[in-house]
Amino acid sequence: MKIIVVTTHKGGVGKTMLAAHLAWHYAGKGLRVLALDLDMQGNLSSTLSRHSCAITAGTLFQQEQPEALPDGTPGQVTLIGSDKALAAAGKSGMAIVGLFVKQMRALAANFDICIVDTNAELNYLVVAALAAATHAISPSDMSSFAREGVHSLLQVVQKLQQQHNPDLVFLGVLPNRFAATKPADVQNLCVLVDTFGAGNLFPAILRDGNAYREAMEPIRGDDASGPRPIWEDRKPAAQSHIADMVKVLAYLDRRVFPETEPVVALV
Ligand SMILES: Nc1ncnc2c1ncn2[C@@H]1O[C@H](COP(=O)(O)OP(=O)(O)OP(=O)(O)O)[C@@H](O)[C@H]1O
Ligand SMILES: [Mg+2]
Repeated sequence: MKIIVVTTHKGGVGKTMLAAHLAWHYAGKGLRVLALDLDMQGNLSSTLSRHSCAITAGTLFQQEQPEALPDGTPGQVTLIGSDKALAAAGKSGMAIVGLFVKQMRALAANFDICIVDTNAELNYLVVAALAAATHAISPSDMSSFAREGVHSLLQVVQKLQQQHNPDLVFLGVLPNRFAATKPADVQNLCVLVDTFGAGNLFPAILRDGNAYREAMEPIRGDDASGPRPIWEDRKPAAQSHIADMVKVLAYLDRRVFPETEPVVALV
């Protein structure tokens, strides 16, 4: 099972938006997808609530194995939603890291890929997720705070690679909510490139657009069908954002599944 952790030490940069789209994307490819919400805010849990399974995330930080682990279905997302027990786990120390890694190994036979959404602060939940992960990706908006958040995250990733998880692949910093019409965004994108270098930066970006907000909304106008991937939006204004997202996902496919053929385009 591949495990992609979406994480940045900054709130509101698009972690949950990206995590949901990764889950939808890989389900669309026919994989058995586990979506795991380690953020106590529970935004990914709300977004994917219709896919909830019987256990919640706090049970993955316990000594005892849950009685029934969820079993994936090809082409479907299974959600392990957040719960209040995560608060204590996040503060409890390195002991929970080993427990989580063990529980994820037990789940590995039941799913092809797991997408983990995280909270914005560094705590033991984030460390545990990175210790178990095969890949990490760090979305960043164009603010200097986000840049600092990515910088501190990268230090944690490097430490984990050295001490716990040498196979962890950092997929890169994904610039998000970029607006070419804002001089400050252009300048900040240049600083991102200078700061992290081509090796740590995604070769694609996501621009700022209402289509993302609409995709994540529980109810759009009189359409109560719930959140849905941006590529299901037929509005002309969404099409350039869909093209951005397709580029990001195509790059991810190549990095995460280098052993397989390129995936057929979504749109
Ligand atoms: N490229 C984008 N353009 C416009 N809006 C976006 C874009 N990406 C995300 N958003 C919106 O920005 C808001 C914050 O995104 P999201 O909740 O994914 O961030 P987050 O990093 O998970 O935040 P938190 O740290 O609070 O969990 C949401 O309303 C989301 O729909
Ligand atoms: Mg979030």
